[in-house]
Amino acid sequence: MAYSEKVIDHYENPRNVGKLDDKSEKVGTGMVGAPACGDVMRLQIQVSDEGVIEDARFKTYGCGSAIASSSLATEWMKGKTLEEAADIKNTDIAEELALPPVKIHCSVLAEDAIKAAIDDYRTKHDESAA
Ligand code: FES
Ligand code: FES
Repeated sequence: MAYSEKVIDHYENPRNVGKLDDKSEKVGTGMVGAPACGDVMRLQIQVSDEGVIEDARFKTYGCGSAIASSSLATEWMKGKTLEEAADIKNTDIAEELALPPVKIHCSVLAEDAIKAAIDDYRTKHDESAA
């Protein structure tokens, strides 16, 4: 299968690969797997007191499209509020990367990981507020 230039670019130069300190109050971690293929994606955000995502990192064990989707997701999330980031759709990722139909679930994985990271952050903060 031919990958689009954008997928290859993100695959060869992934943005924001790495890990944030999950113990930090400021960090939310999303860990999701794709039942279709067994790929796993970890996406983390670091959120400022104003609710803005100041850093985002990912680690993906999966195909090129999954790596590109998560790389792009971290780029898009940085500088956004949690609300704005929660609005990122897998269809936007798939369109930006020109993913073929069989690779759409890779972008779904990225959307799931974004939502899981935001949920984790919010859960941490509800608990500390209680
Ligand atoms: Fe799992 Fe893409 S099918 S690597
Ligand atoms: Fe399964 Fe890409 S995440 S083929």
